[in-house]
Amino acid sequence: LLVLCAALSASPPEIVAHRGESADAPENTMAAFRLAWERKVPAIELDVHLSKDGKLVVIHDKDTKRTANVKKVIKESTWDELKDIDVGAWKDAKYKGEKLCILEDALATIPKGARCFIEIKVGAEATPALVKAVKGSGKSNAQLCVISFQADAVEASKKALPDIPAYYLASFKQDKETKQWTPTIEEVIATAKEIKADGVDLSYKGPIDEALVKKVRDAGLGLYFWTVDEEGPARQLVELGADGITTNKGEWLGKILSQP
Ligand code: G3P
Ligand code: CA
Repeated sequence: LLVLCAALSASPPEIVAHRGESADAPENTMAAFRLAWERKVPAIELDVHLSKDGKLVVIHDKDTKRTANVKKVIKESTWDELKDIDVGAWKDAKYKGEKLCILEDALATIPKGARCFIEIKVGAEATPALVKAVKGSGKSNAQLCVISFQADAVEASKKALPDIPAYYLASFKQDKETKQWTPTIEEVIATAKEIKADGVDLSYKGPIDEALVKKVRDAGLGLYFWTVDEEGPARQLVELGADGITTNKGEWLGKILSQP
C-alpha cells in the first residue's frame, strides 16, 4: 500500500531535452534549443568545452569530427576559428548552415520559467567563463543548473555560484560475473555530499530501485536521470519519484507522461 501511495502521489518529473530536442534537430545547436522551446519542453541540457581563447563552446565531443565535416579540437582552436563550422548538415540537409554556438547564445534562448542544464566537460577550469556567461545572461538562478561527471567542476561551481543548483553526474558499470555495480550509490552520494552538490543525475542504466532512491533522499539530494527515450523505463522512474528525466525526445516524453 505504501508503494502504491508513493506512486500515486509522485509529481510529474521535469523533462529535460538532451542536447536540445536532439532526436529531430542537430544536437547542441541553436536549432535544437529553439525546437525544444517551440515544443514547450520545460528544460534543455547542453555540453560545454573551453576554446583556446576561453569561450565556452556548446559541443559534446572534444573536437568537431563527429558533428562537422572537419576536425577541429576545441581547446586548440580560437572561437574565431570555430564559429563558422557547420554542425547541422550531418543530421539533415535542412539543417545545413547551422553553426556552433557559445554558452551565451544558448542561455539567451531560455524562455521565462524554463531551465537550462549546463554540463561542464572540462572540469573546474571552466568556472571563470561559466560565471561570466551566467552573470551576463540576465537569467535567474532558478533557470540554471550546472551538471558534471567531474567532481571538481561541481565543487567549483557551488563555490562561485552557490545559489545555482549543481548536480553530480554518474554512470554505472556492472561486473559480468559478480553482478556488482561500480561505482556504488553510496560512493556517488559520498562524493556528491563532499562537493556540496544539490543532487545526483544518474544514468538510468544502473542499480536503480526503491532502495537507491531512499539512500539518495535520506542524504537530502535531488534525483535526476538520463538519457531515457523509452516509455517503460520512463514510467518506472516516475513511479520511483524522479525529480527529472533527460531525454532526446522531450515533446514525446511530455505527451507520454501526461497520459495515464
Ligand atoms: O544529462 C547528462 C548526460 O548528457 C550525460 O551524458 O555523454 O550525453 O553528456 P552525455
Ligand atoms: Ca551531456
